[in-house]
Amino acid sequence: MEVLVSSTPDEAASRAAEVVLEGLAGADGDPVLGLATGSSPLGLYRELGRAVQEGRADFSRTHGVALDEYVGLPPGHPEGYRQVLLREVCDVVGLDPERLAVPDGTVPDLAALQRAAAAYEQRIRELGGVDVQVLGIGANGHLGFNEPGSALTSRTRVKRLSQRTRQDNARFFTGLDDVPTHCLTQGLGTILAARRLVLVATGEAKTEAVASALEGALTASVPASVLQWHPDTVVCLDEAAAAGLRNRAYYDDAAAGLPER
Ligand code: F6R
Repeated sequence: MEVLVSSTPDEAASRAAEVVLEGLAGADGDPVLGLATGSSPLGLYRELGRAVQEGRADFSRTHGVALDEYVGLPPGHPEGYRQVLLREVCDVVGLDPERLAVPDGTVPDLAALQRAAAAYEQRIRELGGVDVQVLGIGANGHLGFNEPGSALTSRTRVKRLSQRTRQDNARFFTGLDDVPTHCLTQGLGTILAARRLVLVATGEAKTEAVASALEGALTASVPASVLQWHPDTVVCLDEAAAAGLRNRAYYDDAAAGLPER
């Protein structure tokens, strides 16, 4: 696990963008980029857009794969993650909307949702797996919408959102009552199958969750602790999010690079 601490959220976003581009450059065939929503990756997506404008990146052949989707919002709802990713990723980096896969949370009942979850896993397999998965972390340690207690080997499925997550996300809706109660989310096992994981976390609301995830026990109680299990995880933090880390001095030394040969 590499932990890169930057002095500002903007700098963390720009380092995360470089790590994402490097991971996609190593892809075999058309690259597959896993996409989180929420506030944390917005700066990273803007940086990727800048790289495109500067001619350093091209997403025209990239496939985008959403991390999760709400259940029960009508098709085209502006806060549904398909619409969010169209606005915040496709429009910004030039990813083809036809190449954006999002689990279908609009279907009518549990059996149909379970079929949608299985179809989503199948789609990821057809694409050859995810090359780089962008992630944020919930203040309660969730990853995707895998809430505390999620099985470490779980695959895409329907999950109930925790009250904490619904409260945190109420800012995107007119009020708490409008926040969906359920979602479809890639499982922790699905996320772990990506070839590289890039987590972005900034601000003091994330300090505790980041410390538990990176330096606490590997446990379903802190779903983001599975980052410790993955052989290629890069964590991009600002100072506030990194403030609870005990091994900070070592991360900074390690980030200084490998010795010259
Ligand atoms: C979003 C997602 C969530 C968020 C997390 C942090 O697709 O899966 O895990 O990454 O809730 O949200 P923000 O970045 O808004 O603090």
